[in-house]
Amino acid sequence: MNRLNTKTLPRSWVAVGISMLMATSAWAQEPAAATAALNGNVSAGAKIAQSGSAGGAAACVSCHGAKGEGQAGFPALAGQHAGYLERQLNQMASGSRQSAVMAPMAKALSEQERADVAAYYASLQLPIKGVRGALPGKDDDSGAWLVERGRWADGIPACAQCHGPGGVGVGKDFPAIGHLPADYMQSQIDAWNKGQREAGPLGLMGAVAKKLTADDIKAVAAYYQRLHNPAAAAPAAPAKP
Ligand code: HEC
Ligand code: HEC
Repeated sequence: MNRLNTKTLPRSWVAVGISMLMATSAWAQEPAAATAALNGNVSAGAKIAQSGSAGGAAACVSCHGAKGEGQAGFPALAGQHAGYLERQLNQMASGSRQSAVMAPMAKALSEQERADVAAYYASLQLPIKGVRGALPGKDDDSGAWLVERGRWADGIPACAQCHGPGGVGVGKDFPAIGHLPADYMQSQIDAWNKGQREAGPLGLMGAVAKKLTADDIKAVAAYYQRLHNPAAAAPAAPAKP
């Protein structure tokens, strides 16, 4: 089912696919991390994260940060659903998600080690909360529109519809995105459009990615940042005379 190609499907089938996934995932019920460990062992995973694996995978912390918080170019892992992380590691190991940097490490981990390290990162705190933004009006920018309402003229459902309120993720299928920097988001959109990343469950995100411009992605990332840090985004108080 992961390899279904939505290009060849009528749009109504895609809508059915979305509702099927929604029915099986905990849509808007719980943040991704709430149902953490699947088959993984959190403490075995913590060891791999800190010091690498016996098979030669490097310590994850050296790139993804001491607590999986991410840093420039290296995505945050903390609080993503274990099922999502495990799927990505398996796909990077098999090559259906291409990454020159990650592939050798994903391959160096056994299936059990991938589950363990996924369980560990899922057990850490996601840095954002499930806040629902106001429905945008005509004066709001494309970031607010895409996240809260979508752009139906282009057949793009709201990001929130799949990725949850505030982009905190929903179950194992829909990762948290509300904390991701624009650069990383864009790199993944490019990867889908170049066929370097598997389109994911039902090919849903691969289909959305084709319709998103670089300006859309910048606007979405900026909108999420405002949503999660309203104080920082408020206009500066006028200087006292
Ligand atoms: C040398 C730096 C480096 C190290 C060490 C590293 N990673 Fe990565 N990781 C990356 C980069 C770069 C990406 C983004 C790849 C892409 O663009 O698709 C990534 C992406 C990922 C993703 C996908 C995240 C997402 O949101 O889809 C997972 C999962 C991941 N790494 C897990 C790990 C684990 C587990 C370890 C330790 C065993 C590890 N990484 C070690 C550089 C690193
Ligand atoms: C129809 C459902 C759906 C909609 C709508 C949707 N996404 Fe996704 N998105 C997904 C799925 C499913 C995945 C996981 C793909 C995988 O497993 O590789 C995903 C993954 C992502 C990722 C990768 C996260 C990571 O850690 O690598 C980004 C970035 C993303 N989506 C951005 C967006 C943005 C921005 C919007 C709104 C414009 C959006 N998505 C709307 C289904 C959707």
